[in-house]
Amino acid sequence: MEKGYIIAVDGPSGAGKSAVSQKLAEKLGYLYLDTGAMYRAAGLKALRQKLDLDDPEALKTIAPGLEIKLEQDRGGLKVLLDGEDVSEEIRRPEMGMAASKVSRHLAIRQRLWELQRRLGEPGGVVAEGRDVGTVVFPRADFKFFVTASPEERAGRRYRELKAKGFAVDFDSILQEVSARDAQDSSRELAPLKSADDAILVDTTELSLEQVVERILQVIKERSSLE
Ligand code: DC
Repeated sequence: MEKGYIIAVDGPSGAGKSAVSQKLAEKLGYLYLDTGAMYRAAGLKALRQKLDLDDPEALKTIAPGLEIKLEQDRGGLKVLLDGEDVSEEIRRPEMGMAASKVSRHLAIRQRLWELQRRLGEPGGVVAEGRDVGTVVFPRADFKFFVTASPEERAGRRYRELKAKGFAVDFDSILQEVSARDAQDSSRELAPLKSADDAILVDTTELSLEQVVERILQVIKERSSLE
């Protein structure tokens, strides 16, 4: 494929978007743009400054100066917040909810949209999140909405966190997955939803490789029609 496409991968938490997008980017030699990691870094900054995550005025004080960089590293994606490597800290279990909370505020979204567009607009990117196909890159060349049942998603998150050594229990993860779905889907600004022109991929019964193959197949078929 000669052209650097913009590929949008959206979906709820735990659907496997990150692993799929990372693998896809690797196979295509594209940049992997994890927009959720940027909201997590913004949430971390707000928590460190002891800001009220529900207060839009408080979040306005940090939004314009947010400096978040993503670097591809051999060990995966490196996330830098004001130059500091926060890749591990933003994966702590409570950071998902913190990210979801700060992501409701316009000042934060505007700053992150700006950073995301700067990185992705040149093309050659797999951008993953909740609003990539609807708001960040509405004219993306390909849009996928990746999802799975809440139980399957909670199970995946449970296994992932357990493997990292966190003390977690399945029921509270399932509850958190559902609460985050509700919060992300019902917010006023750029809610989690499938773009009208996105292709739905239900990963409940599929392995990571199968999902990646399915997406690559669509890209190959469609790009050969151009
Ligand atoms: O994909 P994730 O779990 O790392 O995302 C964390 C939170 O960030 C998610 O619950 C909502 C928010 N988010 C968002 O609002 N828009 C995006 N494009 C990506 C994430």
